[in-house]
Parts: sequence; structure tokens; C-alpha cells
Amino acid sequence: MAVQINPSILSADFARLADEARAVKGADWLHVDVMDNHFVPNLTLGVPVVESLSRATDTPLDCHLMIEDPDRWAPQYVEAGAGSVTFHAEAAAAPVRLAREIRAKGARASMALRPATPIEPYEDLLPELDMLLIMTVEPGFGGQAFLDIMLPKIRRTRELIDRHGLQLWLQVDGGVSERTIERCAEAGADVFVAGSAVYGSQDPAAAVRSLRAQAER
Ligand code: DX5
Ligand code: ZN
Repeated sequence: MAVQINPSILSADFARLADEARAVKGADWLHVDVMDNHFVPNLTLGVPVVESLSRATDTPLDCHLMIEDPDRWAPQYVEAGAGSVTFHAEAAAAPVRLAREIRAKGARASMALRPATPIEPYEDLLPELDMLLIMTVEPGFGGQAFLDIMLPKIRRTRELIDRHGLQLWLQVDGGVSERTIERCAEAGADVFVAGSAVYGSQDPAAAVRSLRAQAER
């Protein structure tokens, strides 16, 4: 199974973002967590930083928008150089229109679900998306413990994707590590975000390789 490993720069040194981006050679995408202190109780970075980062690395940027009003902001992240933009289902006013706008601008359109948000109401929207993100922690902070109770949701989502014959990446984000990645892969995820498991390691590129090996088993 083809898998993608996307290190989250939330766990990197923000004063050395360009170096930190280059430290994960072999990663498929660089996961960039955008937080506005409203949708989640934390504040990170915005469009200007994404613009600079996209010039500083060849690794494509996977922007995860944990913000209110993504309908207004998401297109600006595509213009800033993101190759993939994820908005939250709970925050988007018009998810179909937004996904179409992101795709029309040339990026991968992705929608995220918080742990308490079920997949079923969104079943008919799946063809509009290139990726679905199932949060495996409450969004807001790196380094939290993986929520095992999300495994059935990952499994159900994989079944829906397969039943409809869709080409859709299934991403998991939060607490993904060498201890949890196999369970996520077994449940049907194929894109893995890892913050502390990569940047908390002495050798981030080696951590990416070993997570990939575990996920492919
Ligand atoms: C959390 C962010 C995650 C975070 C994951 O809200 O969306 O991307 O960086 O960090 P770890 O892998 O440490 O749980
Ligand atoms: Zn994230």
C-alpha cells in the first residue's frame, strides 16, 4: 500500500523553520498547522509564513487550517503556495463550494473532522475531496496521546471510500508514533501526520523512514 508520511512543523523550532523543513528529507508533504486562537485555543502562523516556507523547501505544503471562517481564508493558502489545504467540517459554511474553489485553484482539497464529528453526514461530499482528515486528538496542540476510540471511525470511513470506489487519501493526525501508526494503517489510513514523533527525534529524517516502514508493514 502506498503511504504518505507528513511531518508536522508544529513540533519544530519556529525560529529555524527553513532548516527544520529541510531536516525531513524523504517526507511526502510538510504538515503546516494554522491555528487562530478561536477554532482552537492556540495561535501559530498565517499566510505570510506559508508563503516564505513554500519558497524555502521543495517538499509540498499540506496546510491544516484550524481556524474559523475557512471559506474566506483557505483560498489564500493556495495562493501562498500550499499544495493541499484542509479545512474543518465544523467551521466551513459551504464545504462543497470551498472544496471546489480549492481544487479550481490547483490544490488538493481536504476536509477534517474533530474527534466528536461523525463521518456519516458527510458521505455524499466525499467525491468533492482529495483527502479526508480524521483527527486522533482534539486539535490545538502537539504531543497529545493518541485516541484509540477513533479507530472504528477510521475503519468506517475506509469502508465508505472503498464502497463508493473513490480515490481519496485518508489522513490521521494526532499522537501518531511508532507505537500507534500500525493500528492506524491497519484500520485503513494511508496518510500519517507526525509532529513530536518526528521533530522530537534526534534524527527527524530517520524517524520518517522508520514510520514509513511501520505503516507499510
Ligand atoms: C494538532 C495538530 C497536529 C499536531 C500533531 O492539533 O493538528 O498536526 O502537530 O502533533 P503530534 O504528532 O505530536 O500529536
Ligand atoms: Zn495538524
